[in-house]
Amino acid sequence: MVKLNTCVFISGKGSNLRRLILNSNKYNFPIKIKLVVCNNKNAEGLKLAKKWSIPCFILNKKQGLSDNRMLIKLKSYKIDLILLAGYMKILSKRFIRSFGKSIINIHPSLLPKFKGLNTFERILKKKEKKTGCTVHFVNEKLDDGKIILRKFFYLDKKDNVTSIKRKTQNLEYNAFSEAIIRVTR
Ligand code: GRF
Repeated sequence: MVKLNTCVFISGKGSNLRRLILNSNKYNFPIKIKLVVCNNKNAEGLKLAKKWSIPCFILNKKQGLSDNRMLIKLKSYKIDLILLAGYMKILSKRFIRSFGKSIINIHPSLLPKFKGLNTFERILKKKEKKTGCTVHFVNEKLDDGKIILRKFFYLDKKDNVTSIKRKTQNLEYNAFSEAIIRVTR
């Protein structure tokens, strides 16, 4: 099967990256992870990339300079698809436009509800009945692009930030891979 050359952007733990790597190693999963981009040199997720011998590109703090270097890097790896898997930095409009191919993000709420940061705290405060995760295309506005799929669960009275995070992330792992299959079919 012809696989899409994919770059995964991370900032932290990389548990989504882990599942993506495992799935991409299956012969019938439609992506090959050629590169990991990370804006935090201490991110735990970098260890996963190393373990599976995936090249990593660490960004420095100067956004403009990083954008250009990143675009050159992506071109050199012939990247067709970017997956944002816990990338905690907003991509510049210029970068999104210049890349010109699909960028997909995973967000820990049922978009369009709770865009942005600290989602679990806000979900609890609003006494939501259900929550979950959303996989969507990235456009130039924050957490706003076309939704590919959402998965949800009902909240329990006993839920707290830790339990909501755990339940949401457990949904995310399948949601991300399902969304990739859906858009590449
Ligand atoms: C995920 O919950 C994702 O929704 C959010 O950041 C988290 C990343 O977790 N954008 P991990 O690094 O994949 O473990």
